Amino acid sequence: MRKVKGRGSIFLQLLLTFFVFFSFVDSGNAGVTSTFIRSEWPSVDIPLDDKVFAVPEGHNAPQQVHITQGDYDGKAVIISWVTADEPGSSQVRYGTSEKNYGFSADGTVTNYTFYNYKSGYIHQCLVDGLAYNTKYYYKIGNGDSARKFWFQTPPEIHPDAPYKFGIIGDLGQTYNSLSTVEHYMQSGGEAVLFVGDLSYADRYQYHDVGVRWDTWGRFIERSAASQAWIWAAGNHEIDYMPYMGEVTPFKSYLHRYPTPYAASKSSNPLWYAIRRASAHIIILSSYSPFVKYTPQWRWLQEEFKRVDREKTPWLIVLMHAPIYSSNEAHFMEGESMRAVFEYWFVKHKVDVVFAGHVHAYERSYRISNIHYNVSGGDRYPVPDKSAPVYITAGDGGNQEGLAGRFRDPQPDYSAFREASYGHSTLEIKNRTHALYHWNRNDDGKRVPTDSFILHNQFWANNRRRRKLNKRHLHSAIANVPLSERLRRCA
Ligand SMILES: *[C@@H]1O[C@H](CO)[C@@H](O)[C@H](O)[C@H]1NC(C)=O
Ligand SMILES: *[C@@H]1O[C@H](CO)[C@@H](O)[C@H](O)[C@H]1NC(C)=O
Ligand SMILES: *[C@@H]1O[C@H](CO)[C@@H](O)[C@H](O)[C@H]1NC(C)=O
Ligand SMILES: [Fe+2]
Repeated sequence: MRKVKGRGSIFLQLLLTFFVFFSFVDSGNAGVTSTFIRSEWPSVDIPLDDKVFAVPEGHNAPQQVHITQGDYDGKAVIISWVTADEPGSSQVRYGTSEKNYGFSADGTVTNYTFYNYKSGYIHQCLVDGLAYNTKYYYKIGNGDSARKFWFQTPPEIHPDAPYKFGIIGDLGQTYNSLSTVEHYMQSGGEAVLFVGDLSYADRYQYHDVGVRWDTWGRFIERSAASQAWIWAAGNHEIDYMPYMGEVTPFKSYLHRYPTPYAASKSSNPLWYAIRRASAHIIILSSYSPFVKYTPQWRWLQEEFKRVDREKTPWLIVLMHAPIYSSNEAHFMEGESMRAVFEYWFVKHKVDVVFAGHVHAYERSYRISNIHYNVSGGDRYPVPDKSAPVYITAGDGGNQEGLAGRFRDPQPDYSAFREASYGHSTLEIKNRTHALYHWNRNDDGKRVPTDSFILHNQFWANNRRRRKLNKRHLHSAIANVPLSERLRRCA
């Protein structure tokens, strides 16, 4: 009896292996490890006196200007800047014409110390009640030192609203970082999804930590003063430095980079969600508690309930430590979060998960490992149509250099991997299609390298839903009076 059962299960195993094997073949499994080797610039930080870090002229002139989304739906921005000499004004004057700054909003000012470093005066101002799809001009500072910028608000939340996001991670402040930002600025991206590890100031000691947070703020102003950068925190934001008495995690980051966390009912700026155009974006913290019953876990459970794919078809998750990465660097550091959250990502059909941390680029197939549990089940990732695509984009170009060693052989789940610097763009076309591009900084040039069409998990793969929707559209049109229909056609 036992023998027969044993044979039976071996047969079953074989059958299963056969199926797993063929479903991989079916999904076109021919993972690519790129052989491209770039002649990189040295991974050294740009010197403090370089013009990319130039302090704007004038007494107390606003510097380190950056904006982020200020609400849940994209009708507000938080504008942040630093004044060095005195607190000055936290007011933002703004309007829809370059000649008329008729509106104003008042912000707050704060400062902090880090060992013997004293920060400048950090201003944060929420500008809300904005119109969608509108260019706003804004002015901060006083008199001759006043500075002017502009930004464009996103389109209204709509399932077919097109939008182009940039994805940047692990940026730092080297010549490679500069190349990444400059290339991104040529891409036509409208907002940045930043997957953590901003300044790498924690590579310095004592007073210089604060100094390098300041230079980074001036460095990214070239893009971040004119479009929203959506922040996720990485390990280099923790700044836990007991040798100099600094033990409050995320102190510099939280003072400098506000997020609209309260708008998504989060209790902590490190995890939150926003909706922008046709996307619902969930930002997680790899370095805050996330196991069952913690605030982040409970918040995420509720946030998934608020996702409405009829309004925002694209469901995107940002985190710092990747869940699926086949690089030697930081191998399996995302495993703890995978064990807790992967089931939800599959259940809620997340479209794509962006992470950083590993200084290279990698893209996965749609796979999951949710059938494994400690008492049984599959112990390896299997193809799963409901699973997200996982993209590691820690390729911004920081001081630590590239993570050039991939595990060999390339695991079945890995579709494309290359150790180079670059940035990505996700160009949402409508509710079913988005174009994804990874752009390598090829010695000063921007070279599109890995690209694919991302089919929406909710709309594109569901014929019944598409049909239903068509019928719904037809009946909605049928209900409009004939005269109105004729008018619309004209
Ligand atoms: C903040 O600025 C005020 C006014 O200049 C100063 O008195 C205070 O010491 C500063 N606080 C910190 C924490 O640096
Ligand atoms: C664990 O996996 C085994 C084998 O797939 C399955 O029979 C069992 O129901 C799973 N247990 C839980 C709690 O999911
Ligand atoms: C969505 O965009 C894709 C790619 O541009 C296009 O092929 C497709 O026809 C579009 N679908 C609809 C419903 O507009
Ligand atoms: Fe990191």
